[in-house]
Amino acid sequence: HQQGNVFEAIGGEEAVDRLVEAFYARVAQHPDLKPIFPDDLTETARKQKQFLTQFFGGPPLYIQEHGHPMLRARHNPFPITPTRRDAWLDCMAAALDEAEIEEPYKSSIFERLTMTANHMMNTPES
Ligand code: HEM
Repeated sequence: HQQGNVFEAIGGEEAVDRLVEAFYARVAQHPDLKPIFPDDLTETARKQKQFLTQFFGGPPLYIQEHGHPMLRARHNPFPITPTRRDAWLDCMAAALDEAEIEEPYKSSIFERLTMTANHMMNTPES
């Protein structure tokens, strides 16, 4: 139940690396997501590894380099519709499986990311 243990419990840095690589491999191919992401996802993936490390209770790597995440504000330039929220979460669910993140962590991580993804929506369906 302690958030601080999730990062270590799932396998630390190696597990976060597997998860983020599996996730952006899917984003890069997803018809609803591809158009709003950069072609080269190297830097995006690097930042997401930093963010998720601290989100899971590991070292605060994202804040150290970029300051407060202000995630909703950072997503404002991108039209995030309910369809794109669903697409993001589909990619993440598949990535959690591929990276072999185990229960009960997989489900609790996915629940927290679902809440965060809902918070990122900023555009109604066109
Ligand atoms: C950045 C889309 C949800 C965390 C981005 C970028 C896009 C994007 C287009 C910019 C990529 C770049 O220019 O490098 C989306 C969409 C979402 C979503 C469509 C659907 C709801 C989330 C969620 C999280 C998250 C739930 C939290 C885990 C981040 C982070 C960055 C980012 C940490 C990098 C911010 C920075 O530039 O420092 N996202 N995102 N996103 N996203 Fe999301």
